[in-house]
Amino acid sequence: MIKKRKVVIVGAGNVGASTAFCMINQGICDEIVLIDMNTERAKGETLDMIHSIAFMNRNMEIKLGDYTDCKDADVLVITASAPMGKENDRLVALKSSSKIVTSIVSSAIENGFDGFIVVVSNPVDIMTYVAYKVSGLPANQIIGSGTLLDSARLQCHIADCIDVDPKSIHAYVLGEHGDSEMIPWSTVRVGGKDIYQIIKDNPTRMNEGMFESIHEAVKKDGWEIFNRKGNTCYGIAASTTRIVRALMFNESVVLPISTYLDGQYGQDGVFTSVPAILDATGVKEVVEIEMTKGEKEQFDASCSHLQSFYKEV
Ligand code: 2OP
Repeated sequence: MIKKRKVVIVGAGNVGASTAFCMINQGICDEIVLIDMNTERAKGETLDMIHSIAFMNRNMEIKLGDYTDCKDADVLVITASAPMGKENDRLVALKSSSKIVTSIVSSAIENGFDGFIVVVSNPVDIMTYVAYKVSGLPANQIIGSGTLLDSARLQCHIADCIDVDPKSIHAYVLGEHGDSEMIPWSTVRVGGKDIYQIIKDNPTRMNEGMFESIHEAVKKDGWEIFNRKGNTCYGIAASTTRIVRALMFNESVVLPISTYLDGQYGQDGVFTSVPAILDATGVKEVVEIEMTKGEKEQFDASCSHLQSFYKEV
């Protein structure tokens, strides 16, 4: 009998529910289980989504569950996180989110979970480290959504400048999903053409002076949304679904996600976003891209910034 592709999502709030619905829309698994302390809210979300299945490409099961559902789950997605408040700083949730993630991972492991953990809870890189520490699972099975969403935002900003489809832009945001994130501009390509060559050939469409303003815009994008609607959910839901799809379908796709570095990029013992190959084994390989000296210094600073919080969790 072919084993069911099963995803457990802990946290049925805006992010968790949007992620579940994105997975249903893309048909990337056979079963989704929602877990939330607010069981009434979670039950309502499942009932609502069940009524959408008839319109989707394939039949799926979605239900309210508990940690016993983790035993045969392939992927555990953790979206539950402490409120970030008005400070526009993901790190304010550090201690409370750490307690939440610790409790969730402990409950899953106690119920026999041994699959992949995809962490979304903020501050996501540090929460991914917490999940790794608490779970005892191999590092390649612990993935944070990291700067996958930031990279998509960067592609959108560059696309706006040069009027091409964001999917034709190969651009990473790396490091912390947060204020210390960096952009290795020397690796940005549009349709295979180096961004610096593009600027040289099309000075009216984009210039190097725009790099800083684009970087600031990417850092602020989450807050531009959060401060208007009180959360962000669709972008992070689609990013998380992209990660789970890569695992479920053994894609060997390269995505910028938060993963454990043990020597790569000269870093050791930190979870941060770098390009990594994702397949049915989880993080198959970290891709070490060439950066300029200045870019590497920014990346190293972001790693140190993240590690400075490890003593608090
Ligand atoms: C975002 O960047 C808030 O981390 C979330 O959308």
